[in-house]
Amino acid sequence: MSELQLTIKYQEFSSASEMSSEDQELVAMALEAQKGSYSPYSHFQVGAALKLANGVIVKGANQENAAYPSGLCAERTAMFWAGANYPDVPLDTLAIAGSDHGVLCESPASPCGSCRQVMAEYQKKHKRPLKVILVGSKRIRKFSCVDDLLPFIFDSLHME
Ligand code: THU
Repeated sequence: MSELQLTIKYQEFSSASEMSSEDQELVAMALEAQKGSYSPYSHFQVGAALKLANGVIVKGANQENAAYPSGLCAERTAMFWAGANYPDVPLDTLAIAGSDHGVLCESPASPCGSCRQVMAEYQKKHKRPLKVILVGSKRIRKFSCVDDLLPFIFDSLHME
């Protein structure tokens, strides 16, 4: 038996002004994207801004439904739109911002497991790490790849 330890790496910023201008723009767009949230049930507004390798930025927002499981998270609305409209363009960076009843979470909202799995799929499809930025009012976290958010990723290699 051996006991192993896995370390994850991420950067933490106390405000967007500490980030590169490109990342600042993406943070601002994730915050802006929250306006597209349709969340009459949870009142939790999530916005996502996804930068593609060709420079295009796609916005997404959570869409809820009276039949709860029919709704979709903000991250996946953006990634699926990108996948459908730019199937051959790798995903570069995904910024996510979540607000509870209109108030941006102090500690950033973290993507759910299903969204992490979808991020992992596109990372694998395009053979390129997808960077992730989680935006909160007191801190912003940046991950250089999805592996740091989802260790032991299940991917198509397991089915070969
Ligand atoms: N939500 C997201 O949009 N992204 C996540 O990663 C977590 C949760 C949404 C789904 C639902 O509309 C609301 O937040 C409350 O769960």
